[in-house]
Amino acid sequence: MSDHVRLVLPGPVEVRKEILEAQTAWMIGHRQPAFATLFASLQEKLKQVFFTQNRVIVSGSSGTGLWEGASRNCIRDDKRVLHLVGGAFSERWAQISQANGKQVDVIEVDWGNAYTPEMVADALKKQSYDAVCAVHNETSTGVTNPIKEIGEVIRQYEDTLFLVDSVSGILGAELRTDDWGIDVVLTSSQKAFALPPGIAFAAVSDRVLERAKQIPHRGYYFDFIELDKSLQKNNTPSTPPISLMYAADRQLTDVLNEGMENRWQRHLQMRQITHEWAIEHGFGLFAQDGYRSPTVTTVDNRQKQVDVNDMAKFMINEKQYAIDKGYGKIKGETFRIAHMGDMTVDTLKDVLTGLSEYLTKGA
Ligand SMILES: Cc1ncc(COP(=O)(O)O)c(C=O)c1O
Repeated sequence: MSDHVRLVLPGPVEVRKEILEAQTAWMIGHRQPAFATLFASLQEKLKQVFFTQNRVIVSGSSGTGLWEGASRNCIRDDKRVLHLVGGAFSERWAQISQANGKQVDVIEVDWGNAYTPEMVADALKKQSYDAVCAVHNETSTGVTNPIKEIGEVIRQYEDTLFLVDSVSGILGAELRTDDWGIDVVLTSSQKAFALPPGIAFAAVSDRVLERAKQIPHRGYYFDFIELDKSLQKNNTPSTPPISLMYAADRQLTDVLNEGMENRWQRHLQMRQITHEWAIEHGFGLFAQDGYRSPTVTTVDNRQKQVDVNDMAKFMINEKQYAIDKGYGKIKGETFRIAHMGDMTVDTLKDVLTGLSEYLTKGA
């Protein structure tokens, strides 16, 4: 038996062998012409998958770093930011803005619910904000928020930037940066991109750079102005994760060959299969109907009360799949089935067959 445990986690996700191997290309220096070629190639593909004409910053960090960067570059110290919160990750981003000394207001919905454009419209009528921060795909609850509709509301306010975390969404769930009026879309590599962890991307609008100029203390590592200056020369201010960039470049070639619409469709199909499996086995679906994520299903285990630790142990030991046991305050009450990244319908079916076997064993 191989010792390869296949990841069915909502990040890090399974990475295909070809992508892992792309990292083994000979090292180059980031001030050599070969690096500029790699950077330019990656940049051009990133723009396509983000559906943007804006620059896409490449960061040697996980997504958390770009949360901090977005908050620091977009929110002036004497202005306020509105965070839309409805799960563990949206909550954390609000904490990060606070940790950076920003004045934070929060709209909070119950975990499992989506935020609505009406909530945002009400808040913007009462108070002016430098930015509204939203999570596209709340990985803890399996909710995909209505970013397009929220963007339509925010666009009516000239000084309000729209910042979106699509760490577990983009490339699996539809997201169109420019058409939806988004100023920052940030994401990490280890989720819907199906890359190893350690590299993060953010599409950044000109409006953001204009705002950043008005903020004297943007920090250093995630200073979008400096990142943009280097990016214009197909470079980065500090040493980038070159091996991961090789992997990203290769992965995006494959993603574009699959086609973004096809990729979204594959995820919707996997969502459907997962929902049917959950209902058939007596589980609920935690996320609000109409807002259920194409990349991760949060299964409601409150009625059925399956021992998720035991189930996960079975899946590793008997099936060599690592599965999730739920996140944060809903751990155990829920568990998540990730259908993210390069997962295929066949693999998902194999995972679900394994889970069914666990559930019926001894019955
Ligand atoms: C929606 C969301 N945002 C942000 C993060 C944090 O990203 P990272 O772990 O890449 O720092 C995560 C991680 O799971 C996430 O799911």
